[in-house]
Amino acid sequence: MKIAKPLFLLISLAVTNVITAQNQERIPEVEKLLGKMTIEEKIGQLNLLTPGGGVATGSVVSKNVESKIKAGNVGGLFGVASPSKMKMAQDLAVKQTRLQIPLLFGSDIIHGYKTTFPIPLGLSASWDMDLIKRTAQIAAKEATADGINWNFSPMVDIARDPRWGRIAEGAGEDAYLGSEIAKAMVTGYQGEDLTDEETMLACVKHFALYGAVEAGRDYNSVDMSRVKMFNQYLPPYKAAIDAGAASVMTSFNDVDGVPATGNKWLLTDLLRDRWNFDGFVVSDYTSLNEMMAHGLGDLQAVSALALKAGLDMDMVGEGFLSTLKKSLDEGKVTEEEITNACRHVLEAKYKLGLFEDPYKYIDESRPEKDILTPENRAVARKAAQRSFVLLKNENNVLPLKKSSNIALIGPLADSRNNMLGTWAPTGEIKNAVTILEGFKNVAPNARIEYAKGSNILNDKELAKNINVFGPRIEISKELPDELLNEALAVAKKSEVIVAVVGEATEMSGEAASRTDISIPDTQKKLIKELVATGKPVVLVLMSGRPLTIPEEFDLPVSILQVWHPGVEAGNAVADVVFGDYNPSGKLTATWPRSIGQIPIYHSMKNTGRPAPDSEEFQKFKSNYLDEKNSPLLPFGYGLSYTTFEYSDLKISKEKIKVNEAVEVSVTLKNTGKFDGEEVVQLYLHDVVRSITPPNRQLKGFKKVFLKKGESKTITITLKPEDLKFYNSSLEFVAEPGTFEVFVGGDSNASLKKSFVLE
Ligand code: NOJ
Repeated sequence: MKIAKPLFLLISLAVTNVITAQNQERIPEVEKLLGKMTIEEKIGQLNLLTPGGGVATGSVVSKNVESKIKAGNVGGLFGVASPSKMKMAQDLAVKQTRLQIPLLFGSDIIHGYKTTFPIPLGLSASWDMDLIKRTAQIAAKEATADGINWNFSPMVDIARDPRWGRIAEGAGEDAYLGSEIAKAMVTGYQGEDLTDEETMLACVKHFALYGAVEAGRDYNSVDMSRVKMFNQYLPPYKAAIDAGAASVMTSFNDVDGVPATGNKWLLTDLLRDRWNFDGFVVSDYTSLNEMMAHGLGDLQAVSALALKAGLDMDMVGEGFLSTLKKSLDEGKVTEEEITNACRHVLEAKYKLGLFEDPYKYIDESRPEKDILTPENRAVARKAAQRSFVLLKNENNVLPLKKSSNIALIGPLADSRNNMLGTWAPTGEIKNAVTILEGFKNVAPNARIEYAKGSNILNDKELAKNINVFGPRIEISKELPDELLNEALAVAKKSEVIVAVVGEATEMSGEAASRTDISIPDTQKKLIKELVATGKPVVLVLMSGRPLTIPEEFDLPVSILQVWHPGVEAGNAVADVVFGDYNPSGKLTATWPRSIGQIPIYHSMKNTGRPAPDSEEFQKFKSNYLDEKNSPLLPFGYGLSYTTFEYSDLKISKEKIKVNEAVEVSVTLKNTGKFDGEEVVQLYLHDVVRSITPPNRQLKGFKKVFLKKGESKTITITLKPEDLKFYNSSLEFVAEPGTFEVFVGGDSNASLKKSFVLE
């Protein structure tokens, strides 16, 4: 169904391009429209509401949405459940308001629309940029088929504290990898042309530094030096903006003591003036109003502050709507500031082509042919396979034979509710494949017997906190010992035990921080008892974050980390367990030995008193009395069913000049018994510079396929900017001196060569 465009909007005046204060070329049609708007109409465009029906992520849901749209008080909606409702809302906007300005329709499509891909932390572990881009393209195609034209993604917050539940939503700890993924996602969502009906606006979030909340507690304060921000935390946001992200969402936290939503340095000096961002900035869910709780004043004061800081659109809180006119009358904000914010919102609508056709995303013929197609599910299966990380393969138990006699045990083995992962509100649980189903699909000749074995956890109060979006933790009527005994009986009849254990989906994600990130006790007990049977045990471990698993890691078990794999969960897990796909994922966030080591990440600094390489405790060195400094599993780590050997590291030049590139090459050989893929990683150490350098930092990678026995020379180019960093004056510079290069299969890579920048 296509609906004719309203005539009002075919504004065809040949207006010469207008140059604003920010020196950016403006869109004549938008300038013309702005000229006709009253101040109330302009303020209305700055208001983003959610009528409910989707998933509310705050305690407030917008009221009287219909009458507000008719009154011209709404710029966009999000969380609208269906295209028919969007059509009704768009009708109100374009048929019943004076200027007939169409609405934006936003949504959180964090890892797929109906075809749910693995959680972003899992996807990042694929280190496969083409695949990640493909998942974003599919998300855009499916979401736009259902009327959505603006996606609150990518979430690019660097996170080095796995207590923080939202580590699940991002790409992990590293600025370089995070930037590559940010680019892949923005270009995937937005494509080449935003007016294309299969693309949508991206919204890079949460700007900024949200991943660094103190103590991993959600919405907490952030305080960080500028050099740390610029070097370690800001690059992925900048990469998304350089890739053309059309919008930015502010974060809940403060930065330098000013909440991001009202932070002029962040939203104007950095984002617009330094990075030349020309899209629009939206607040997070009521984050404008929350500036009152932060201690910045009343609603009128914080709304004025946010507008002046550079916020363009207010999500849900209606602070702009209810106070800006008053602030204008009282001289607390200017008309130009309101106009500017409105301009940014209208320009986004223009870029989407909504002025040409407000209904272009509402096409009833699309959902059926575009959403959850077999092709899309095939990509979800592939993405899940590639996101899994083999942490341990005891006695090379994996892959299993398809004719095995298997005890499939564990609270997540037959748990459809926990396959999609956090932040998948547009996905539908009923479409997800459980692990039990996947095993039966992929290995129909295996003998598979299932037993739950334990609850995910036994604490009813905790389960209640986790089950806010529906039952993720279902505490069985049977007592824990009964569950356990049932599982042991099943285990005893088998030749191999596969135990699917870990976190329920909502044990990570928003407002799901944990102070203890180990496997819950009841599952730990199950694992120990299964191991005590003497049978080989494979743990299929699900989680939305790195876990602390030192005890389980020391047991004679194999461990396949599968995150929350998405709609094709069971099939993909079975593909890997039975060897149809050889695992190739690598961790993108360090796994600590203990919670006390957090924050822990690969690009740590040497300190003036580094601990000895032996990791034996030494007084007056930077170490712990009771724990090693090294993590349980380093960044970049992940095994394969085959083995890879690195040799012959070469650097194209021993000395280079500023702005010259260097080629680094290495020979990679598949020395094992399976074809497989390896992520070749390059780390750099700037030996002497004006601010303390990390011991090593990821600066390049390539994912390569090698047949068994095959060797290849892999070349990675270090570009001039890869040698640069932000110095104390926040200039992006490369300083002369020696650079050490390490290449290998994880961040402990030992092959080393150096070159000198003259
Ligand atoms: C709050 C979350 O922080 C943000 O990521 C999300 O986009 C909004 N809610 C809207 O749902």
